[in-house]
Amino acid sequence: MLKGYVLVTGGTGYIGSHTVVELLNNDYKVVIVDNLCNSKALVVDRIEKIAHKRPDFIEADVRDKEKMREIFKNYPIDAVIHFAGLKAVGESVEKPQLYYDNNIGSTEVLLEVMKEFNCKNIVFSSSATVYGNPKRIPIFEDDPTGEVTNPYAETKVKIEIILKELAKIDSSMNIAILRYFNPIGAHKSGLIGEDPNGIPNNLMPYITQVAIGKLPFVHVFGSDYKTKDGTGVRDYIHVVDLALGHVATLKKLEQNPGLVIYNLGTGIGTSVIELIEAFKMANKIDIPYRIEGRRPGDIDECYANCDKAFREMGWKTKYNMVDCCKDSWNWQSHNPKGYEE
Ligand code: NAD
Ligand code: WQD
Repeated sequence: MLKGYVLVTGGTGYIGSHTVVELLNNDYKVVIVDNLCNSKALVVDRIEKIAHKRPDFIEADVRDKEKMREIFKNYPIDAVIHFAGLKAVGESVEKPQLYYDNNIGSTEVLLEVMKEFNCKNIVFSSSATVYGNPKRIPIFEDDPTGEVTNPYAETKVKIEIILKELAKIDSSMNIAILRYFNPIGAHKSGLIGEDPNGIPNNLMPYITQVAIGKLPFVHVFGSDYKTKDGTGVRDYIHVVDLALGHVATLKKLEQNPGLVIYNLGTGIGTSVIELIEAFKMANKIDIPYRIEGRRPGDIDECYANCDKAFREMGWKTKYNMVDCCKDSWNWQSHNPKGYEE
């Protein structure tokens, strides 16, 4: 068990907040750094309510090197989990430079400061998006990456390259690249969850906003994909399972493995229509939808082979689609306006 702190960048965000809860549940000491560009400080209170412990929180931009140096001076940091980043694919096409600066820039600063303070362990939030349009399904970790079509995905590919180079030149570093598939769901308490700004880009928050009556129906983007029912197939993973994957990864890093790369998904492909039907059934709420044209850039199918994470870390998912749908709705129905009070 690490004796010092775990620095969680982006720790008030969707995946970060759930991970902080599980870290505290597992007796890790946590300090969060977040600039709140896509989250609220109130999340820290909610985390405390769930975990009965309060993580330290510092409002700062990870690109601010002096501030990051100050944090490393004040806390004995043994490991970093680096969630901080911008993640909207459409926005990244409009503002590529913002994405390069924020996502790649923050990682570069973080790695420089970690080096200065001799911090050897980092977990990075990568994404299934690095596989682009996958050559085979399910996707294995050593399948090709890099042929991507939007700046958001490019930042993940570039950061993976930086981390792989670092692993080559510094064998004392322990680096985990985690490729998340599609996180959905929320903590059982309904106190933390996904709180998108404006109209959601992703399917599950769109469904929950239809369920609550904020939006009239789901636009199903395309029914002519090469899939079981023609709609897009993805690997939806409960966010708490994903959070627990980070706890398992920290334990793995304690064995000094050098560079490790894991898919974090369920291994199950679910279509858009199946997700809508599962939500209706789990929550007994009708979800009207309309089949429309494809969304540019979308692929037919994307789901993971997750055997490696189980083999090497003993991690596998424990929540199913019913849990995902119930917990997403529990969060949305108790927080119709998200974190806005
Ligand atoms: P999120 O937007 O909810 O959380 C990211 C957090 O980082 C936010 O709280 C934001 O305020 C903060 N942040 C952004 N830039 C920062 C900076 N420069 N300095 C300090 N804080 C900054 O997103 P999330 O869904 O929790 O995603 C977390 C990570 O996982 C991201 O790196 C994302 O790319 C990656 N990821 C997400 C998904 C997904 O579908 N949610 C899938 C794969 C990978
Ligand atoms: C899922 C399916 C859509 C919305 C994105 C990013 C990816 C990763 C996760 C960060 C697709 C369909 C969606 C809607 C729909 N993020 N859909 N109506 O596109 O798999 O992945 O989030 O790394 O990089 O690209 O997720 O939830 O947007 O879409 O029919 O209103 O639902 O076409 O088949 P996606 P999503």
